[in-house]
Amino acid sequence: MSRDRLVDGNDPRTDRAPDDFPPDRPATRLLHDDYVAPSPFGGLNVAVHHASTVSFPTVAALRARDVHNETGYTYGLHGTPTSFTLAARVAALEGGDHCVLVPSGLAAIALVDLALLTSGDNFLLPDNVYNPSRDLGTSLLAGFGIETRFYDPLDAASFEGAIDDRTKLAWLETPGSVTMEVPDIPALVAIAKRRGVLTAIDNTWAAGVLFRPFDHGVDLVMHALTKYPSGGSDVLMGSVTTRDLALHRRLRAADMRLGFGVGGDDAYLMLRGLGTMAVRLRQSGANGLALALWLAARPEIAAVLHPALPSCPGHAIWKRDFHGAAGLFSVVVDDAIDEGRVDAMIDALRLFHIGFSWGGVHSLAVPYRVGLPGGPARPVSRWPHRGTLVRFYAGIEDAQDLIADLDQAFVRLAR
Ligand SMILES: Cc1ncc(COP(=O)(O)O)c(C=O)c1O
Repeated sequence: MSRDRLVDGNDPRTDRAPDDFPPDRPATRLLHDDYVAPSPFGGLNVAVHHASTVSFPTVAALRARDVHNETGYTYGLHGTPTSFTLAARVAALEGGDHCVLVPSGLAAIALVDLALLTSGDNFLLPDNVYNPSRDLGTSLLAGFGIETRFYDPLDAASFEGAIDDRTKLAWLETPGSVTMEVPDIPALVAIAKRRGVLTAIDNTWAAGVLFRPFDHGVDLVMHALTKYPSGGSDVLMGSVTTRDLALHRRLRAADMRLGFGVGGDDAYLMLRGLGTMAVRLRQSGANGLALALWLAARPEIAAVLHPALPSCPGHAIWKRDFHGAAGLFSVVVDDAIDEGRVDAMIDALRLFHIGFSWGGVHSLAVPYRVGLPGGPARPVSRWPHRGTLVRFYAGIEDAQDLIADLDQAFVRLAR
């Protein structure tokens, strides 16, 4: 609009100045008041704090802040009452004392690697490791001059043989991602301790409940909270828990440098999920076992890789060290049945969804090509099967309905 069309500073279309607000200054009143809400509030849940800015009562308080001190607040990225409460609850779940929360399980793996490794170091991964962890090691970390070494998780000699004086960290995973082998964690930890190597474990399958890594001397426990703790297939988050304050401080320092952080809504959803996790885990575990037993009796299935069944490598270790089984397991289909028919069987499932991120209330099925590009890391040389692997996750539906669904879909394996 040209200047000469403004009359007395007013917009001729409205006959008002653009800033013609009432004289009692609503812009300030919208932001400032003297109201103090009565406390305490008796709601059962932790309040959701959304914050980037944290304000300080005085400059002196700002100058005195200690960003590493988790009893105070500095910046939303570094902790809020909501995220600190969740961190404390996860630490208690794992039987640890300190916990760092990050935006995904994979970010938790990356945090451990980046906090503890530097150029010239090497670190160990089991050869059946969660594949993105392997990929992180062999791509980004390799670019930083950090070497990834693989060991056979069922062979303590292979673990010890991979260690040298540059080995700073050994990852453990139980059971192995997708291929489900259960390693002897106490034996591997004893070797690592003797050789002065820190151990970190991916404890996601056991949900912090079914296996207690700190009781076996593990230094760091990583958990993809995305899975059972969330339970809703709608939040991504990861945690790293320790009992050692110095180790926790190294993780916290790296976390701050990397700028990982979790939002208030996600932390709240996670707290809500945790409250029902034990009940969901029981139902999912019981359903998983019912499905595994049904599958074990089917002629189309060559092997059921469920830690609670003797057909799973490391079953005796599971029996010795675990407090139960989760609902995630795999089967190997008879190698006379080609991959196309296995895909058709999965497509025919009505209750099971086809998807990767497990731990929610819905059942899932996913095919994998073990040892092939994009498949789980375990080398074909240490993989005795030739048929297609299918990973099942049992949700919390009625087990009879899940079995009936498998039964109708299995017809496709015969065609
Ligand atoms: C065993 C295991 N560890 C870690 C992760 C990574 O978790 P997120 O999906 O939160 O990155 C997953 C995810 O599938 C997993 O199954």
